[in-house]
Amino acid sequence: MKFQILTLFPEFFSSFIQTGLISKAIQKSIIDIELIDVKIFSDKGRADDYPIGGGESMIISYTPLKKALQSLKKLGHVVCLSPQGEIWNFKKAKGFSTQYKTVTLICGRYGGIDLRLIQDFVHEEISIGDYVLNGGETASLVLIESCSRFLENFMKNRKSHQKDSFENSLLKSPQWTKPNSIEGHTIPKILLSGHHKKIKEFRYYSSLWLTYLKKPYLLEKKSLFLKDLFKAKNYLKQFSPLELKALGLKKEKADLVLIKKK
Ligand code: ADE
Repeated sequence: MKFQILTLFPEFFSSFIQTGLISKAIQKSIIDIELIDVKIFSDKGRADDYPIGGGESMIISYTPLKKALQSLKKLGHVVCLSPQGEIWNFKKAKGFSTQYKTVTLICGRYGGIDLRLIQDFVHEEISIGDYVLNGGETASLVLIESCSRFLENFMKNRKSHQKDSFENSLLKSPQWTKPNSIEGHTIPKILLSGHHKKIKEFRYYSSLWLTYLKKPYLLEKKSLFLKDLFKAKNYLKQFSPLELKALGLKKEKADLVLIKKK
């Protein structure tokens, strides 16, 4: 999968492309990242200008961005990162990684981009959340990394992404590592049993119940899970108060609820 990034700050990406799985994926040609410095395409040495009608923040001009796009051998699916875009999520990331071989990312800065450029070239505007960042660069990292996790051979373990949170609409079940006991905490004993079928059952029910409590909207319209919710609650109720505490849960009358943080 190829990502072409149009930015005023190409240096922003240097540690990202040199680190961890992303750098390995570049070396193995699983992904390709091409950085295009938009400043180079402006005659005045600046790619931004004052907003028409007044205002404080500078706006990225039409022409340098157009020239930068036209300098590319082949345009991909053109995305503008902006707080006005559709909210990015797991499903969009999976869709992009299967649908598009090349994604062209336009990173806005300052007060935004001249709307005419968006109207003429952009297929889709994407936001990573309802807040304002200094620019689209941070958002483009999020997009690239979340798409890459779906690509074959990106992760050592081919099935890792299938265990990620949100796959199958469920949050990942809680995880612990050695030591088994620390600072008065214990972990659910079943995980030490070596009984794979029972551990799988525990992971499924705990992830289902925790999803229901923490992100119920992920389960909406999933009748498959709704059927199992009642079973999940009854299953988890068998656990000791300490084991439930390890999961961040406690019994309250007939219910099994999240322990609130102080
Ligand atoms: N640029 C500024 N804020 C942004 C956001 N929330 N998402 C994507 N791009 C942005």
